[in-house]
Amino acid sequence: MSVPKIIIAIDGYASTGKSSFAKMIAAKYGFLYLDSGAIYRAVTLFALERGFISDNGEIDQNSLKEALSGLKVTFRREASTQKSETYIGERSVEKEIRQLEVSNYVSPIAVIPFVRDFVDNLLHKFGEDGAIVMDGRDIGTVVFPNAQLKIFMTADAEIRARRREKELLAKGEDVKFEDILKNVLERDYIDSHRETAPLKKADDAILLDNSYMTMEQQMEWFDAIIRERFGYES
Ligand code: CDP
Repeated sequence: MSVPKIIIAIDGYASTGKSSFAKMIAAKYGFLYLDSGAIYRAVTLFALERGFISDNGEIDQNSLKEALSGLKVTFRREASTQKSETYIGERSVEKEIRQLEVSNYVSPIAVIPFVRDFVDNLLHKFGEDGAIVMDGRDIGTVVFPNAQLKIFMTADAEIRARRREKELLAKGEDVKFEDILKNVLERDYIDSHRETAPLKKADDAILLDNSYMTMEQQMEWFDAIIRERFGYES
């Protein structure tokens, strides 16, 4: 028996490891993984490169709105690593979108309703056939409210910032723990308090606090849910 072609929605706070978890689930159960945050990050990079964000952080929304119809964001598998990469047109932007500069502007960009519509349209196209695991902030509440399985992730903020620090240092970025913690807390605040599609746990989402869990323990936790809900033995 195989797992039904459901939609799995994983939402939660910044740097809780949603994407690593979603990737593991996708690999184990043969689902497609979709990173909605990567699309918000690509829009942010696009806005920065076009000069639509001023040095004091003001966003030229009119210019962004006009230019957005010309932005093409896709995901492609890199042949040598087999890892999915985010593209703007024909250019891989995977590295740039993960940098702290983009992290610092992404939440103000993600507040804008026409940006959310742009991303939601793309997500709906990707999610049409099911068998997908998607992570973000509003997947289980707004984008796919009928998702058959919803998980809401949280963890202690300092632990999250340490994890992100390790990740960025491993990529050779020169970052400070305090700056990362500040960014994580700021994003959580903006994401949770915005008017359109704020970050919150869907009533039917299962809460996962992974502060003191290993990836293996997390996967065992998930397998047990799949077993109980769908009768599937992995
Ligand atoms: O750093 P982390 O992996 O936790 O974040 P991300 O998933 O890459 O998302 C970056 C930012 O995009 C978030 O802080 C939100 O402001 C925004 N976002 C959103 O508003 N809605 C989503 N479904 C996904 C991301």
